[in-house]
Amino acid sequence: MSIDLSGPIQDLLRKELTRAEIYLRNDKYKEAAESYLKAAELSDKLQKYALTPQQRTKRAQLANQYRELAEKLTNGELVKIQNGESSAEKSQISSDISKLIHVSNVTWADIGGLEDTKKEIKYAYGLALAKVKPGVMMGKLSNILFYGPPGTGKTLLAAATSNGIDAVFFNVKVSNILSKYFGESTKIFSGLYDAARRAAPSVIFLDEFESLTAPRGASSETGPERRLLSTILAELDGLAEKGSDRHVLTIAATNAPWSIDEAVLSRFHRKIYIPLPDFEARKKIFEIHLKKHGFETEVNYDWLAERTRRFSGREIEQICGKTIERMIGEMNMNIPSIVDQGKDAIRNYEIVLRPLTRKDFEETLKKVVPATPSKPHNSFFEWIENEPPN
Ligand SMILES: Nc1ncnc2c1ncn2[C@@H]1O[C@H](COP(=O)(O)OP(=O)(O)OP(=O)(O)O)[C@@H](O)[C@H]1O
Ligand SMILES: [Mg+2]
Repeated sequence: MSIDLSGPIQDLLRKELTRAEIYLRNDKYKEAAESYLKAAELSDKLQKYALTPQQRTKRAQLANQYRELAEKLTNGELVKIQNGESSAEKSQISSDISKLIHVSNVTWADIGGLEDTKKEIKYAYGLALAKVKPGVMMGKLSNILFYGPPGTGKTLLAAATSNGIDAVFFNVKVSNILSKYFGESTKIFSGLYDAARRAAPSVIFLDEFESLTAPRGASSETGPERRLLSTILAELDGLAEKGSDRHVLTIAATNAPWSIDEAVLSRFHRKIYIPLPDFEARKKIFEIHLKKHGFETEVNYDWLAERTRRFSGREIEQICGKTIERMIGEMNMNIPSIVDQGKDAIRNYEIVLRPLTRKDFEETLKKVVPATPSKPHNSFFEWIENEPPN
């Protein structure tokens, strides 16, 4: 197994980022800013250990991103909101919005397959970020909807997009906002877009997007929900602040596109189907979750991909996890007795690993069945055919 010298610094970096997120969650902006500064220093150090020029650049970019976040947190840019609410309410809303900020370190290379999709996304955000000739008024072209079965990489793609453009990433689970701010969610959404514009370039990721608009005929015609709908429509149109708006990307994801209101759907310039992985993609996903995580295997990737038709990326990740877990259990049964020998004994013990075998995988595969039904795409394909014209 190759030895990565940057390991201890990576660990420190991970801890510092977790600390920063906990501070944010507890409204401790000053402390969060300090943690992001430390994270920036660690990323600077990591550049020395980069194996490729791209990795080096990436680490430098991450360091800058952490530094910018620290600066924005220190001067209050990410925590102030302009509308007319009372200051207590304002600070509650703004602190809740700050908690939606995540620093994403998912890269395109962490996503197996989906090559065309990656290109399409890069094109969309390239258009949003590129310069425009003076006098030419480009509308907002940067609303993207990902739809498809669960566990196929929708959230990963959004995170990689945000990372790819060094954007501040607002990760919003729509159902959480609706349940927490029933009737008040309009304020959260306007506040969110305000914050995103100030922090631009930024990506607003709206996960479980279908929960925003209840199916037709349900109680969607009540006052607060109508207001929320018109706020969302205005934000998706980019009416609030022309110009800077081009740099706020909205990415929404859903497993049930047919539940989304047609008026909302028509605001998405690109609707991208994220399918279950094909043979080549499954091979790549296995590689990502085994080789890139430092685990060796005697089995070839074709064999694994052949046996996992209809499995999603998440299920493949689970297969790898379970198989690794069983191998580690088998090779390290003596851990409890070493723990009995005392702290030093266990600290000096190195976990024993061996390459994964065909038998290891067969054991796991006996127990897992893909969750997506055998004709998974039917409902999505039907939806595409009936989809309202843009
Ligand atoms: N294409 C892929 N390459 C590598 N890993 C993947 C891929 N797709 C899924 N995974 C693994 O599955 C996990 C779940 O993926 P992700 O959260 O992106 O799915 P999703 O499409 O957003 O699912 P849901 O619809 O349930 O929200 C990821 O964290 C990753 O480990
Ligand atoms: Mg998801």
